[in-house]
Amino acid sequence: MKNNCDKDSQFSKQIVQWYIKNGRSNLPWRKNITAYKVWISEIMLQQTQVKTVIPFFKKFVSRYPNLKSLSIANEEEILALWTGLGFYRRAINIYKAKEIILTDFKNRFPKSFDDIVRLPGIGESTAGAIMSIAYQIPYPILDANVKKVISRYESVENDSTNTSNKKLWALSSKHTPSKNIFSYTQGIMDLGATVCHNSKPNCGICPLQEGCKSAFKIKVSKKETKKQNPTKKINYVLARSNDSFLLFKKLEESFWEGLWTPLELDSYHPFPWKDGIKTQEEIAVKHKLSHLNLDIKIKIYSFEKAFKVKTNKKYKWVNKSNIDKYGMPKPIKSIIEKL
Ligand code: ADE
Repeated sequence: MKNNCDKDSQFSKQIVQWYIKNGRSNLPWRKNITAYKVWISEIMLQQTQVKTVIPFFKKFVSRYPNLKSLSIANEEEILALWTGLGFYRRAINIYKAKEIILTDFKNRFPKSFDDIVRLPGIGESTAGAIMSIAYQIPYPILDANVKKVISRYESVENDSTNTSNKKLWALSSKHTPSKNIFSYTQGIMDLGATVCHNSKPNCGICPLQEGCKSAFKIKVSKKETKKQNPTKKINYVLARSNDSFLLFKKLEESFWEGLWTPLELDSYHPFPWKDGIKTQEEIAVKHKLSHLNLDIKIKIYSFEKAFKVKTNKKYKWVNKSNIDKYGMPKPIKSIIEKL
């Protein structure tokens, strides 16, 4: 997919010039760049906005500044740093990828597109971004912002169908310049995020306004009525003994995969314990995921002593002072911290 054209398009040149003057060059992953840090930032940015990612990225690279430090981390430690960022599969994939980098690449971040795109959690666009930003070797990318900018500029459909994605990949390749790939790649992402807004693009200040087939034509949509997400009710039972809490690792491939939660009660898992209960209280909390609203009820039972549980699930009694060491959903962590 590498672009070998000598003549870079006006589109790409205008973006490069604009980025040099207006780009967000102070974002933490744009300073002291290494392939490792570009990788971590691109994974965090896959489904999360820049402003949310910033504190998580800073914390992650201060705990693990390079592959050497990350190579000895276990999955739990990586998940713990991900608490609150969401889409936890990304953290599991970072764990898997760093194991592959250690065994197959002598703990050096791979340098070729083909090796990078095979790592867990990395698709064509993320691999393209890593090649372009970390190694300054031109590869096209196609994330949501790039799709928006190119589809408007060229006035082509952007409806996530195979046909439109194929067309947009071809256009992204066509516009990927042979020079200044670092500024171009960051620039098109920044332009999509800060100028070419979804509902109210700021065409008046856009460097692409001359050639853009949609300039000043995008209808300012009235606040779209946001699609309501479905609500899921969850009933948890949380056993505690003094400051230790009984938590179970969620292994199902759904939200909160890999995280530690209280025991979820459903028709297959009726109330599991009776003996030794001292006190009981109930807490209700609502929590929004990107695609689901959670209506959570947690019944808390106190016991004199920690006990063993007959289950095929992975479980642990976790002391409150250690909860930072475990990957845990934000609302569950907040509740335990207050108990
Ligand atoms: N979105 C995805 N990658 C990004 C980056 N490197 N900078 C800003 N936003 C992004």
